[in-house]
Amino acid sequence: MSTPQTPLSLPVRLADGSRLELGTATASYQVEGAIAEDGRGPSIWDTFTARPGAVRDGSSGEVACDSYHRYLEDADLVAGLGVDWYRFSIAWPRVVPAGTGAVEQRGLDYYDRLVDALLERGLKPTATLYHWDLPQPLEDAGGWLVRETAEAFADYAEVVAGRLGDRVGTWATLNEPWCAGYLGYAAGVHAPGRSEGGAAHRAAHHLMLGHALAAERVRANGPADVGIVLNLAPIWPETTGTPEADAVTDGVDALRNRVWLDPLVDGAYDEGLLAVAPELGDPELVREGDLAAILGSADWIGINYYTPVRPTPATGAANEGGHPEGGAYPGVPPFDLVVREPVTDIGWEIDASGLEELLVTTAERTGLPVLVMENGAAMADTAVTDGRVDDQDRIGYLRDHLAATVAARASGADVRAYVVWTLLDNFEWAEGYTKTFGLVHIDSRDQTRTPKASYHWVAEQAAALRA
Ligand code: FCB
Repeated sequence: MSTPQTPLSLPVRLADGSRLELGTATASYQVEGAIAEDGRGPSIWDTFTARPGAVRDGSSGEVACDSYHRYLEDADLVAGLGVDWYRFSIAWPRVVPAGTGAVEQRGLDYYDRLVDALLERGLKPTATLYHWDLPQPLEDAGGWLVRETAEAFADYAEVVAGRLGDRVGTWATLNEPWCAGYLGYAAGVHAPGRSEGGAAHRAAHHLMLGHALAAERVRANGPADVGIVLNLAPIWPETTGTPEADAVTDGVDALRNRVWLDPLVDGAYDEGLLAVAPELGDPELVREGDLAAILGSADWIGINYYTPVRPTPATGAANEGGHPEGGAYPGVPPFDLVVREPVTDIGWEIDASGLEELLVTTAERTGLPVLVMENGAAMADTAVTDGRVDDQDRIGYLRDHLAATVAARASGADVRAYVVWTLLDNFEWAEGYTKTFGLVHIDSRDQTRTPKASYHWVAEQAAALRA
């Protein structure tokens, strides 16, 4: 993708005069480093990254972008963008190192300083309570496969909201529970790296329960908008009209979209979902009151969108491994994912119309405000030359997706924000440091931060929106 295709027309205001807000995001394990500092306990990502072969380049978040020490410089970079928001995540093992019990004040102090730094720069701090770094002791006790983890999450949420709730107005409980549950406990390609098949549906329910319990505790600590961030996907079947194809399409939709949205909106797991995930019909797992607690527990839905999903029944031998999410859909008949050109450097198809469709359908389905909480592109950036990185391809991607967001809003969907993933080139999970999504380049030798052309482009959009 070289030249941006879609014209932008900013700002689009809603009937109440409000405009789309912009932001950028990071996550604790991907940027902080300092994994053994100020009493932080081990997380499942520390353990997983130490496993040979788990991460493409054998790296970890041990140093990452060193944001634990450089957060003021990072706050300056966000402020320089002129955006409204900084979405960051809080590392549970910094705050409650053992997962339950003793609170580490030095961990809370760090987020306290970060929040103040953002407020001083006129930015809205937006905190995510769980972006995948589960304290290892909780995993040792069963992780998200056991109910106690959801209860521990609520206790931790209360501690954080008790400290930051007077200054943080927007909270996300979970980031992408599909990844935490199914990539972590079924595909095994994310921490904790377990391949438990259908047992992963238990993780899905406990994550949703944890979300609901945590949301309640956050609200008890001051006025707050509390939502959940989902990587919902437009499901565009490559094959239709056969029972096999329909079963695949329905199953993929069930686990990517409905297992999260249905309990939030209907307070139920429907029959189609139970056909794929019979575990969700177990009254020992889904206890009385659980679905009532999840129903209506989100004030908004955050959407992370990168690429559409095009399933088709597997042609060769049973093959759920033909794509990077292999095994992440237990209960769904074997299928392949078709990827069309153009793609980004991580191999994800580029199609901005998927974002527009998702925003419109999710707003309709839920009746809630929707926020783009992550969107961005891994591109094979050129080296820094004369202090510049000329990432026109990333600009093209962002431009088309921001235009899709504006279009969804113009057609009546209540879309409140567009948040770019990500501020800094950082630790990209199983891909290590091999894939760069940042608006700012990082020199791993000395942590020098160099804003790319896309950074300046986002700054121009932010200025246009404020005008
Ligand atoms: C999302 C994650 C985020 C980042 C992007 C590229 O799935 O939430 O941390 O890795 O993908």
